[in-house]
Amino acid sequence: MEVILASKELNVKLDGFRGNGIRIGLIPTMGALHDGHASLMHEAKKRCDHVVLSIFINPTQFNDSADFDNYPSSHEADLALSESCGVDVVFMPSVSDLYQGEPRVDRVNYGLLTNGFEGGARPGHFDGVVAVVRRLFAAVKPEMAFFGEKDLQQLAVVRKLTENEFTDLQVIACPLIRDVDGLALSSRNARLGGKARAQALAIPRSIKQIQSAVLGRLSINQALNQAKIELELQEGVKLEYIDVIDGKSFETCRSGDHGVPYVLIAAEVGGVRLIDNIPLDPNRRLT
Ligand code: PAF
Repeated sequence: MEVILASKELNVKLDGFRGNGIRIGLIPTMGALHDGHASLMHEAKKRCDHVVLSIFINPTQFNDSADFDNYPSSHEADLALSESCGVDVVFMPSVSDLYQGEPRVDRVNYGLLTNGFEGGARPGHFDGVVAVVRRLFAAVKPEMAFFGEKDLQQLAVVRKLTENEFTDLQVIACPLIRDVDGLALSSRNARLGGKARAQALAIPRSIKQIQSAVLGRLSINQALNQAKIELELQEGVKLEYIDVIDGKSFETCRSGDHGVPYVLIAAEVGGVRLIDNIPLDPNRRLT
């Protein structure tokens, strides 16, 4: 495995690989890698000839500077995990290298995809995500790029970007991975103290409860209301939103036959903002 710090060097390296049907796969990450990332690496190894994993804490996607300052980082462990999963190149550019100077972002408007839910709660977040993913796609020029369904809205935004600007690139979505206690794996979990971690379990519990309630014939509205009431009573959990949406358009769903419905939640626990999702019908998923 090679660690490359500059785009120019990456170009030279990857140009040596390209051609003859060789498939390059990209896994964009911000580091603090966990088993969710490992699942992306395994999928990329199965489908591609060369796997590039980028580690770049993108300053332009943080609407909250404290979140940026406190974002966990674990380079040594990240490199060890990448190597053990068979990654060929870890790309770790500096901000000035990737953005070719001061970071600049353009306003991105994909309607609900960039303005609803995460877009509404974190103004400018998707402008930064699109800016950096666009730059990573341009730097690596992969045949396939791998993203986790944990960030379901990001996945929809990246699909839209690809449809508009990188039509030859295939976006591969990989399932959300949960810890044994049910909490969705996230780099931010490292910042949860013991008590907050236990309190955070209300998040997966509430979305599973909605899934079961709707399977048991409660209406989506009734199930959502019940879950909201319970979450409001949960010590330490500050609910931001919980809703049922179509996983492609992010329009709200109030009947199970509209699109591919997912239960979506964002909440703050112990000062850490967490998101999670689950398909409303376990037999109907986006991918
Ligand atoms: O999901 C992430 O880790 C980031 O949002 C991404 C896609 C690497 C862009 O910085």
